[in-house]
Amino acid sequence: MAARGNVPGAGEFVPEGAGIAELRAAAAGCRGCDLHRDATQTVFGEGPAHAALLLVGEQPGDQEDRRGHPFVGPAGGLLDRALDEAGIDRGACYLTNAVKHFRFTERGKRRIHRQPGRTEIVACAPWLAAELRAVRPRLVLCLGAIAAQAVLGTGFRVSERRGELVELPGHAVLATVHPSAVLRAPDREEAYREFAADLGRARAALEALPR
Ligand code: URA
Ligand code: SF4
Repeated sequence: MAARGNVPGAGEFVPEGAGIAELRAAAAGCRGCDLHRDATQTVFGEGPAHAALLLVGEQPGDQEDRRGHPFVGPAGGLLDRALDEAGIDRGACYLTNAVKHFRFTERGKRRIHRQPGRTEIVACAPWLAAELRAVRPRLVLCLGAIAAQAVLGTGFRVSERRGELVELPGHAVLATVHPSAVLRAPDREEAYREFAADLGRARAALEALPR
C-alpha cells in the first residue's frame, strides 16, 4: 500500500526482516504520519514473538497512550473477560492495533477518541504487515471494522461477515466487533454474549487449523 497525500507512511521506518523486538524499537521513532506529534508514545504490539493467535484492534485509547501497552483500558477489560470465557489465554496471544498512535481531539482536559482515517490506516499498515511476517500467526482475530479493513481490505463488512473464517495465504482471519462497541451497545449483555461467542468460534477455528 502506498502512502497517501503528503504523509510519508511508516514504510521507511520499518527495518527489513526484523523480529518483533527490533520492530518495536524502531516503531518508537516512527514519523510516518502526523499522529506521533500529539500522542504520548507509540503503542506497539505485545505478546509471544510467535503466538498462534494475533489480535488486531483499532488504535490505542487514552489509557493505552499513557501507559504504552495495548488494551489496558476499559475495552481491554471487557476483552480480557471475554477471552477468559472463551478459554483463550491472553498471555499466549499477540495483541496489536491497526494504528499505533492515539488519535484524539481535546475537549477541555479530556481527550476524546477520534477514529483513524484512511490516511492513518494506510500510513501505519507497514507495521502491521511486519508484525504479521514476524509472528506468523495461524489465526488473526480482527476486533472491529478498522482492524478488519486493515487486514481484509476496505470491501469487508463486519456487520455481514462477523464470526466467519476467512482463509488467506499464510493465515486464517476471523473478524468480530470491537469491544468498545459492546460497551456502547444498547443491549450490552446481548452484545457481550455475541462477542464472546465469536471469540469461542476463533478458539475452535484455531484448534482445527493445521499447526
Ligand atoms: N481499543 C483498541 O482498539 N486498541 C487498544 O489497544 C485499546 C482500545
Ligand atoms: Fe507511524 Fe503509525 Fe504512529 Fe503514524 S500512527 S506515526 S504511521 S506508528
